[in-house]
Amino acid sequence: MRLLLAFVRANPWRSLIMASALLLAGIVEGIGLAAMLPLLSFAIDSQAAAPAAKHSGFNYFVTNALAQLGIEPTIGVLLVIVVIGILLKNGLLLFIRKWIGYTIAEFTTRLRLELLQALLNTRWEYFLHQRIGNLANAMATETLRAADAYVNGVTMISVVIQSIVYATVALLVSWHATLVCVMVGLAIGYLSHGLIQMARQAGKRQTRLLQSLLARLTDTLQSVKPLKAMARENLADAVLAAETAQLNRALRKEVFSREILKAVQEPLTSIVIAIGVYVSLVYWNLPLAKVIVLVLLLSKMLNSMGRIQNLYHKVAVCESAYWSLQKTIRQAEREREVVSGNRIPTLEQSIRLDRISFAYGEQQVFRGLSLTVPGGLLTTLIGPSGVGKTTIIDLITGLLRPQGGEVFIDNAALAQIDLKAWRRLIGYVPQETMLFHDTVLNNVTLGDPELGEADATYALRAAGAWDFVTRLEQGMYTDVGERGSKLSGGQRQRIMIARALAHRPRLLILDEATSALDPETARSICDTLCSLRGQLTVLAISHQTTLVDSADRVYRLQDGEATAVDKQVLADAI
Ligand SMILES: Nc1ncnc2c1ncn2[C@@H]1O[C@H](COP(=O)(O)OP(=O)(O)OP(=O)(O)O)[C@@H](O)[C@H]1O
Ligand SMILES: [Mg+2]
Repeated sequence: MRLLLAFVRANPWRSLIMASALLLAGIVEGIGLAAMLPLLSFAIDSQAAAPAAKHSGFNYFVTNALAQLGIEPTIGVLLVIVVIGILLKNGLLLFIRKWIGYTIAEFTTRLRLELLQALLNTRWEYFLHQRIGNLANAMATETLRAADAYVNGVTMISVVIQSIVYATVALLVSWHATLVCVMVGLAIGYLSHGLIQMARQAGKRQTRLLQSLLARLTDTLQSVKPLKAMARENLADAVLAAETAQLNRALRKEVFSREILKAVQEPLTSIVIAIGVYVSLVYWNLPLAKVIVLVLLLSKMLNSMGRIQNLYHKVAVCESAYWSLQKTIRQAEREREVVSGNRIPTLEQSIRLDRISFAYGEQQVFRGLSLTVPGGLLTTLIGPSGVGKTTIIDLITGLLRPQGGEVFIDNAALAQIDLKAWRRLIGYVPQETMLFHDTVLNNVTLGDPELGEADATYALRAAGAWDFVTRLEQGMYTDVGERGSKLSGGQRQRIMIARALAHRPRLLILDEATSALDPETARSICDTLCSLRGQLTVLAISHQTTLVDSADRVYRLQDGEATAVDKQVLADAI
């Protein structure tokens, strides 16, 4: 119920229109069914050649109501009413199904967009703790299963309305027979509670296992090369196979509970109807026409009640995916990155880190670190692995916030600066090359509509990638393969540099960005960057002599502190 309320809250208008249309379809069907009793009376009377009890009960009520409307209740008229009822009901159902389809498409799209927006706007530190596979699973399988829960929930409501219509018409024909049937239907529903619980548990297990499976699968596929090269793919295979087997068990439980539910429904309905027919004819002496209509109505009602159970079963299986998805979205929304500053940044003078303290949880990385990156010049950071070089970059880009001290951009504290505007001034080449499975051009422009081929050409030239790109089969339009696997390590790095340069940033950050390049190529890129001195501030992390030699300033990071070093002394040391 909570799930359906959530859906109704999310789509109030559509839900209202759907509920009204469903009600109308129910009324139309009810009218059609009501016309059935006098019709059968006619048929049976003419066969038995004996007048039926036309002047009593529901039959009398219907014929009388028709007479009031000036309609002669002949066989032809009644048949027309029954057929019109069926036609109208189906017409309305067609309309409703179309609405349900559209609503679901909209609902799934909205969930996906909501998830995407929430995730992309989270704090970097939150993102760091997420498993990408889980997020991919939320986007792919959980949205679909959530939509499934929705379809089945809405269909369930429509069948509930249908059952109420059947029960109402049946009540008018014979209230005691109907009451008994409703009680029996509810009792069957109550007894199958255990099966529904089993389905709910199986659904929850599926949600959990699918998350875990996709997370592991993504991890494995991302590092499949070393696994294969060391013949260790079987290790990943074993874990994945074990989880797939568990998933299979959960699926079997779902199938088991569903099929048992279905298997008991028909025999139980038949037994109830058979007993009902016997009691009606032998003990209550009801007329045959009435009994036939009752059988028709009550079997329809019991079938609908069975369908309600089946649909509820499906909702129970898929429901957990919806809640899991909602949890992911709400959690991501709570972890939204706070962008409070509104000063538009410039980068004329410097980037200054002033007495920065920073810790990842318990692990202290900096305690009072200060350094200055002068504007328009090349500054290089060196230091042993794990000392905090990449962390400095994350502090400058505002992806991480210091616990003490502040980062100043031209004397404006980063907290006061519009972070989005600041980041748009940055070209960033991370330590790990991350190319998309797309063309060179799209990898450079990132699909930004404001950047064209000319910008990509400029950037590829500046990054020393132009020569090899023009030699590729389709030049800039060549697909680079999965994470750039069709290119060499050094070529990938140069595409990454081009990407960072294409939008003509004011600050270029290179985190070991030339580590895979030969000294000559690295020098040529460095020369190009140096020729941009004045317009471009470059902050490089590198141990290569090229970026240290050409630097205007070099900092060595050691024990959480930055010390400006003499290049000559350094050159001797490297
Ligand atoms: N997200 C994180 N959570 C916890 N600890 C982290 C995180 N990222 C980095 N660290 C730790 O912080 C320290 C500094 O990491 P950082 O990546 O800044 O080092 P680095 O100087 O760039 O090293 P390398 O030269 O190897 O790239 C390391 O000890 C690392 O283990
Ligand atoms: Mg690093």
